[in-house]
Amino acid sequence: MSDLLVRAARGERTERPPVWLMRQAGRHIPEYREIREDYSFVEAVTDPAVAERITLLPWERYRPDGLVLFSDILTILEPLGFEYHIESGVGPVIENPVSGPDDVDRSREPIPERLDYVGELLDRLEDRVGDRTSLIGFAGGPFTLASYAIAGEPTRNHLPARKFRLQHPEAFERLLDLFTEAVAEFLAYQVDRGADVVQVFDTYAGVLPPADYERYIVPRHREIVAAVDAPTILFVRNMNGRLGQLAAADPDVVGLDWTVEMGAARDQLGDLGVQGNLDPSVLFADRATIRERTREIIEAAGPQGHVLNLGHGVDRETPVDSVRTFVETAKNVRW
Ligand code: CP3
Repeated sequence: MSDLLVRAARGERTERPPVWLMRQAGRHIPEYREIREDYSFVEAVTDPAVAERITLLPWERYRPDGLVLFSDILTILEPLGFEYHIESGVGPVIENPVSGPDDVDRSREPIPERLDYVGELLDRLEDRVGDRTSLIGFAGGPFTLASYAIAGEPTRNHLPARKFRLQHPEAFERLLDLFTEAVAEFLAYQVDRGADVVQVFDTYAGVLPPADYERYIVPRHREIVAAVDAPTILFVRNMNGRLGQLAAADPDVVGLDWTVEMGAARDQLGDLGVQGNLDPSVLFADRATIRERTREIIEAAGPQGHVLNLGHGVDRETPVDSVRTFVETAKNVRW
């Protein structure tokens, strides 16, 4: 059993940093693009055999220390009454977004039953690679899900959700509560079915001003973290200067975007685990630069409780050789 990732995520000292990449199971891999010619995104996500093949693509190429399930943060919207698809050139589109304050509470189907393809995917992965790498489950965070549910499509600064919180504060909280409960239940289910580590992607919550983040987000992140009986990584972008608000949710690991200086994060967060945080654009540089920048992060983070990752998802144009260099740089470390 390879438990490097689990040990680092628990804050332990490890012989080298474990490594995986956000969005590793996606468009930068040519075989992913081939598989997607035959299946829509939602078809690929909901068919455990297809999702298994895609989840394993980065394993076959790079042997990372963790495999993030091929799925999406938006899958949880379906049991809550929202339909979505991925529109090429646009991104995620919700067909029936929240139309007003009275349209927040919809059908609430049981999460595990409705999302049991995720459990089946975990079973399959456990059989295939469970003894050689860690399985990373995930869910979106309440604000990020609310932003899609309200706007119905990607927005640059999440203005629709930010407006909604001021125009309909009670409905906004009900929507956040709906997602908080569903996400807590979904993550607990994934751990039950074999996820070794989980990550909460509340990627966009950092667009809220600090006082509103404190009020609306921190208690809900705490609730989610408390419901999960496995090491939990909490990732929010744009939290530089207020990492304390991430730590306040009491996760095992704080996910850092690339605008955070790793050494400064360590000073601020003490013994708390950290994940990150190479700028994804560095993977477009030459090999020596990739190694050098990656080593700088590893050095600054030190031997304890560091999960090496990018500061956000791998870009779709990234050369596979660059990803290999990144992974190998971590694997060559001996503390
Ligand atoms: O490789 C992995 O990380 C595994 C699975 C994963 C996907 N999305 C697959 C995916 C994970 C963990 C996510 C998280 C996710 N999805 C987030 C949070 C983190 C982040 O990166 O911000 C968000 C906000 C989403 C919503 C979403 N779904 C977006 C923004 C997109 C991309 C749209 C686009 O056109 O680029 C998706 C679709 C999606 N999810 C793809 C993949 C591989 C691309 C679909 C495709 O065109 O093939």
